[in-house]
Amino acid sequence: MAQTTHPPGTGGHAASGGEGASRRDFLYLATGAVGAIGVASAVWPFIDSMNPAADTLALASIDVDLAPVQEGQAITVTWRGKPVFVRHRTAKEIEEARTVNLGDLRDPAADDTRVKKPEWLIVVGICTHLGCVPLGQKPTDPRGDYDGWFCPCHGSHYDTAGRIRKGPAPANLVVPQYAFTSDTAVRLG
Ligand code: FES
Repeated sequence: MAQTTHPPGTGGHAASGGEGASRRDFLYLATGAVGAIGVASAVWPFIDSMNPAADTLALASIDVDLAPVQEGQAITVTWRGKPVFVRHRTAKEIEEARTVNLGDLRDPAADDTRVKKPEWLIVVGICTHLGCVPLGQKPTDPRGDYDGWFCPCHGSHYDTAGRIRKGPAPANLVVPQYAFTSDTAVRLG
């Protein structure tokens, strides 16, 4: 246990180094407090100067240029803090998505209800089991048994329409709100 002293007249406790140590502690704390206030006042004008409307708008919607995404390729964009998978499907992938018997699906949904143009599939890239980001975006990624995405967390397999086909996930990958603004561009949100 550290020794403590009770300086006359204080009635309280002081650190073992005596008044000198206490004074240094006080100076240190006081300097720290000034530093924190200094940082706070440097940051605030920056935050305050941001336009709330523009900030909110940027979070609410983003434009995605599809032109560079070749058939068979995929890109991931971040929208409202979430990964969104954009896949330029091949004819084979579209065919696979469209020839499925809906009665075999855990979360039945026809392919044409999940896309606005057959060649572009856009889904939120978050597994509906416990929220991992499934693999399948990179050419070297495993895509699972149904050519879509594979979530290695607990083994969920999604097909080329982002529908759950195998594993513990209860539902299809979510299709976000979006619209085509041209033949090669979409706006999410
Ligand atoms: S989070 Fe994807 S399978 Fe569990």
